[in-house]
Amino acid sequence: MEKKDIQSTKVTSPLPTREGLGVGLFPILGKVIYGKYPLVYLDNAATTQKPRQVVEAMTEEYYNVNANVHRGVHFLSQQATELHEASRETVRRFLGAGSAAEIVFTRGTTESINLVASCFGQAFMKEGDEVILSEMEHHSNIVSWQLLQARQGIRLRVVPITDDGRLQMDAYEKLFNERTRIVSITHVSNVLGTVNPIKDIIRIAHEHGVPVLIDGAQSTPHMAVDVQDLDCDFFAFSGHKIYGPTGIGVLYGKEKWLDCIPPYMGGGEMIKTVSFEKTTFNELPYKFEAGTPDYVASTGLARALDFVSSVGFDAIEAHERDLTAYAMQRLMEIEGMKIFGPDIEEHDAVISFQVGNIHHLDMGTLLDRLGIAVRTGHHCAEPLMRRLGIEGTCRASFALYNTREDVDALVAGIQRVSMMF
Ligand SMILES: Cc1ncc(COP(=O)(O)O)c(C=O)c1O
Repeated sequence: MEKKDIQSTKVTSPLPTREGLGVGLFPILGKVIYGKYPLVYLDNAATTQKPRQVVEAMTEEYYNVNANVHRGVHFLSQQATELHEASRETVRRFLGAGSAAEIVFTRGTTESINLVASCFGQAFMKEGDEVILSEMEHHSNIVSWQLLQARQGIRLRVVPITDDGRLQMDAYEKLFNERTRIVSITHVSNVLGTVNPIKDIIRIAHEHGVPVLIDGAQSTPHMAVDVQDLDCDFFAFSGHKIYGPTGIGVLYGKEKWLDCIPPYMGGGEMIKTVSFEKTTFNELPYKFEAGTPDYVASTGLARALDFVSSVGFDAIEAHERDLTAYAMQRLMEIEGMKIFGPDIEEHDAVISFQVGNIHHLDMGTLLDRLGIAVRTGHHCAEPLMRRLGIEGTCRASFALYNTREDVDALVAGIQRVSMMF
C-alpha cells in the first residue's frame, strides 16, 4: 500500500465527540479497562456498540408490551405484532425494497446465506451445477455452499483476487458457463476492507441470466444500500453490526425468488394449514419465519436503523473515510507496518495489518492490556489468509463513534508494543 499524505484533509464531518455521538449515546465507550485505560473500541467489524435508544426500546417492549406476535387476539399481542411489522417496514425502507413481503427476519447474515444456499439450492441446483464465490468470502458464505455441495454435489467456483485484495473481474466473467446457477459474493471484505464493484458483479451475472446474493454484513453499517437500484436478487445483513441487537438479521429476496423456493424450516408461523396428509405454507415473508420470531430484537433493529438514518450516510461516509485515511497514514509511520487490502479509494473502514515479525495474537493481547480492542486471527476467512500467505492479522475497524484520538491511541499502542520485541 502506498503511503499517502492527508495532512491537509479537513475533518468536516459533524460526527463524534466523546460526549456527543460517543459516550453520551454509547455509555460503554466511557468504560475504563483493567481499571486503568479508557476503552478504545476498534472491533466494530465484529460487532458494534448499541446506542441508548436501541437498548431502551427493547427494555420498554419487554416491560410494557411483551406478548407473542401474530397469534393472539388480545391487546398486548396485537401491539407487539404492530411493532414487529412496523420494524419490518423500517427495514424495507432502509434497504429500498419494493415490498415488506421481501423482508425476511433471520438470526443474522449467516442464517440468511444458509437459507438461500439451502432453499435456492434445493429448488434450482443439481449435481454439477455451480455457484460463484470469491476468494475473500467469510466462512458463512463458503461453508453454507459446501453443505449443499455435500448434499447435492454442486461445484464451488472461486473468483481470485489481486495481490492488493481486489476481485479479478476478468476472471469473474470467465467463470460463467451453462452450469452457473447463482453468484454469492460479499459487498465489503471483513478483512481487506475492499469495497467490491457489486453493481458490475450483478450486471454481469444478470447478462448470463444468473441471480446474485450479496453478503452485506460489512457494507450496511457504512454506506447506503438500495436493493432495487443494485438489482440484487438476495441481500443479507446482521443487526448487531449496524448498532442493533444480536440474534437478528435480514434476508432481502426478490418476491419472484422467495415465491418459488421452498421454506427453510418447518413449524409455527410458516404454515397456512396443516394435516398429516398435506401442509400448505404461509404467504411471504412468513413462509421463511418458522417459530416465534425475536419480535423484541426486531424493534431494536428498527431503532438502530432509525439512528443510522438520522445521522445520515453522507456524514457517516465522510467521517469514516477521513478516519480510515488518517489511520492508514498514521499506521504507515510505524516501522515494519504492512497493511493488507486496496488503497484508500476502494477501502472501507476495516484495516488489517501486521507489524514486522510480531505475531498478531501477541500484538492484539498487548494492545488489549492498553485498553485497545482489536480483532486478531483469520477473521473467519481462512481461504483468504491462505491466498495472502499468512496465518492471521490484527484488524482495526471503525464505527461512526470512533475518533482520530482513537487512531492516535492505536498508533501509540502499537509503537509501545513494537518496542518490546
Ligand atoms: C462479511 C461477513 N459475512 C458474514 C458474517 C457473519 O455474520 P453473522 O455472524 O452476524 O451472521 C460476517 C461477520 O463477521 C462478515 O463479516
